Amino acid sequence: KLLKDEDLRQECKDLMSTLPMEPTYKLYQYQGFWYGSWALQGILSCQKHFEANDKDIILVTTPKSGTTWIKALTFALLNRNKHPHTQKNHPLLVTNPHILVPFLESLFYDEKYIVSNLSQFPSPRLLSIHAPYVSLPKSAKESNCKIVYLCRDPKDISVSMWKFMETLMPEIRGSNLFDEFFELFCRGVNLYGPFWEHVLEYWKESLKRPEKIMFLRYEQMKLHPTLVLKKLAEFLGCPFSKQELDNGMLDDILKLCSFDNLRNLEANKKGTISMFGFDIENKSFFRRGEIGDGKNFLTMEMVEKINTITQKKFSQYGLNF
Ligand code: A3P
Repeated sequence: KLLKDEDLRQECKDLMSTLPMEPTYKLYQYQGFWYGSWALQGILSCQKHFEANDKDIILVTTPKSGTTWIKALTFALLNRNKHPHTQKNHPLLVTNPHILVPFLESLFYDEKYIVSNLSQFPSPRLLSIHAPYVSLPKSAKESNCKIVYLCRDPKDISVSMWKFMETLMPEIRGSNLFDEFFELFCRGVNLYGPFWEHVLEYWKESLKRPEKIMFLRYEQMKLHPTLVLKKLAEFLGCPFSKQELDNGMLDDILKLCSFDNLRNLEANKKGTISMFGFDIENKSFFRRGEIGDGKNFLTMEMVEKINTITQKKFSQYGLNF
């Protein structure tokens, strides 16, 4: 189900009428990045109403970078005393991670909801957003809240995003629109794109303020999950004690949040969640969960093209994808 543009707030409609628009996927360019209409409304409301506090933890990701995974891991990590992994009805066993750690853009569709409900979130509030740094609410930048940033190889993102969009828009399934989508992706015209600028903004900020922004990559999490989770716990001010490590707590959290475990839960196999103007099937957040799957789908030319762009944009900043 697609929320209709007529139902957007007037201020959003007014703004949209002034913004550059990409017609195939109806994306609007705001502050240099591309949004669907409902995400745009959410971002505008966040900018206006969201007040971050020093204890908040905000997970920021480029779409299809493993948001579901980092949400699950961070939730399990922060709640490891309240909800031990042995708990039979651990929230992660019965609830999709996107419900446990909501997207601010989606919460903020409805301005009235947010003012009354966000204050009731237990502290530290664990929230998420896809917004580029430039469009983060001011308080998220200026307070001492922590930001965990996650991105991924753009080849894998482009394919993961397309496969995800096929689940949302049946009309593009089996079409030959992927080539056009890929071209747009390379030009930065995709949800929350340009990917490269999104990454660079947070990369630079994380170098300036490493105590505020932790920069992570999906590949790093797949290859070195133990190390990443340990560092994440330290960054968030809740390091694993020796006793916890000896008791296997860290490995248990990794197992709880593993692709195979989460994907096979009823809560993630069934049901839908409303976000970004769509009713999204929970199962569509779990596809292959591998490094390098993009190459199984892209032509050699496509791989070369995207690698060249990445190299050109990133190499001078010491980022190697
Ligand atoms: P693929 O489409 O390559 O399989 P997001 O959560 O940001 O929407 O990203 C979705 C991507 O993360 C999908 O990638 C999905 O399969 C993968 N993913 C979801 N849960 C995961 C987990 N627990 N571990 C590793 N990868 C996961």
